[in-house]
Amino acid sequence: MTAPRRMLLNAFHMNCVSHIQQGLWVRDDTRQLDYTQFAPWVELAQILEKGCFDALFLADVMGLYDTYRGSAATSIIEAMQVPVNDPALLIPAMAYVTEHLGFAFTSSVLQTPPFTFARQLSTLDHLTRGRVAWNIVTSYLPNAAASLGYGALPPHEARYARADEYLDVTYKLWEGSWEDGAVRRDTHRRIYADPDKIHPIHHVGTHYTVAGPHLSEPSPQRTPLLFQAGSSPRGRAFAAKHAECVFIVTSRHSLRGASSIIHDIRTQAVGLGRHPEDIRFFQGLSPVVGGTEAEANAKEAAYLAQFSTEGALAHLSGSIGVDLGAIDLDCPLTSFAFDAMRGAITDLIASAPDKTVTFRDLVRSRLAGQLVTGTPEQIADTLQEWFEAGVDGFNLVYSVTPGTFVDFIDGVVPVLQARGLVQRAYTPGPLRQKIFGQARLPARHPAAAYRRG
Ligand SMILES: Cc1cc2nc3c(=O)[nH]c(=O)nc-3n(C[C@H](O)[C@H](O)[C@H](O)COP(=O)(O)O)c2cc1C
Repeated sequence: MTAPRRMLLNAFHMNCVSHIQQGLWVRDDTRQLDYTQFAPWVELAQILEKGCFDALFLADVMGLYDTYRGSAATSIIEAMQVPVNDPALLIPAMAYVTEHLGFAFTSSVLQTPPFTFARQLSTLDHLTRGRVAWNIVTSYLPNAAASLGYGALPPHEARYARADEYLDVTYKLWEGSWEDGAVRRDTHRRIYADPDKIHPIHHVGTHYTVAGPHLSEPSPQRTPLLFQAGSSPRGRAFAAKHAECVFIVTSRHSLRGASSIIHDIRTQAVGLGRHPEDIRFFQGLSPVVGGTEAEANAKEAAYLAQFSTEGALAHLSGSIGVDLGAIDLDCPLTSFAFDAMRGAITDLIASAPDKTVTFRDLVRSRLAGQLVTGTPEQIADTLQEWFEAGVDGFNLVYSVTPGTFVDFIDGVVPVLQARGLVQRAYTPGPLRQKIFGQARLPARHPAAAYRRG
């Protein structure tokens, strides 16, 4: 069974001061400084549920961005994803004050043994009544690997190989360890569960040895809804096999780029026996809503004026693993000698439509590149265009929180609802059921191979 296609909406956030749009945390109209408190999170969850959002998506990293100028100093000064608190621990409080909103959080396969992680996830899936999703990442910050006991960051290929095994272990625990019907809750005969229906997993692999059985009884979704973000060839193959939702960030002007990633991953998924509609794709965009076009433009100009180029360079340097501190920011892109540059910088420059701009302009335009600025109707038009090009939904990036989401919900959501693009009310059931029409993974997903009976 597959639910009819509708536009999906997530809010993109992180349990830290400054997430994507660096420098804006100093504004009076944002609650980023309160991130250690309950109030901004539970209030955000209530706002998003009022706006019929599908989920709050929480990013995470397990290390410092310390590539820029060879140190973490800029990241620390700018609160650029550090300090960063645990995203999963926010979820119970937010789930308690909501009924339908989903909660996706990021956890790297390097950070927690799969046996422990599977129990954490099952606990959250129980407490949220099936509203939890896992964004599977493999880590890219060397500092994360150094602090998690790996020394150097394992090579890209090795990280994905580890991720494949990590998922196998968790699938065995979530899907195969406790049979349906294992839990009896028979107060009369004083039998809580049937030992014959609870099985060890006996996993012995390259990275993990896990006896099992799973310690949690089956939760509403068993395996949580699976998100993935990563667009290298290996990342796409991984998504095609495992992911149900894929987070992509292509340039706002590149509908074709998004379509080609979607087509590639869907084709690979079909090759593995899955259906094209088993995977939904989310594009990252940042709406700047105004009552009039002039008001929206003025808002955008104010955000751009406050963006921190230093913070952005620290973020970008860490993300691509290249110190951009050595680059002369005020030289036009045409003056860079391509041959001598690392691939990541060449790609960055290649992405600029106008090569006469400076590297500083390029960094700022990347920051601004995800902004969709205009009246509610104009923003709805842009989202509809993406949707019609094959993107299923959006991870909306904030400039100010919760203001960006409040403006979007008050202005854009009613327009999208009037066009029949987004939901007006939630359907009952767990998160996977709300998006795909069934609470459990379909039989054609690799996790289902571990089911018994
Ligand atoms: C849109 C997007 C969001 C991501 N969010 C996170 C994150 O929150 N935490 C993290 O550790 N990695 C994050 N990543 C990194 C990826 O999961 C992946 O590890 C990285 O992109 C390298 O994989 P790739 O080479 O296949 O692209 C994100 C990547 C993308 C494209």
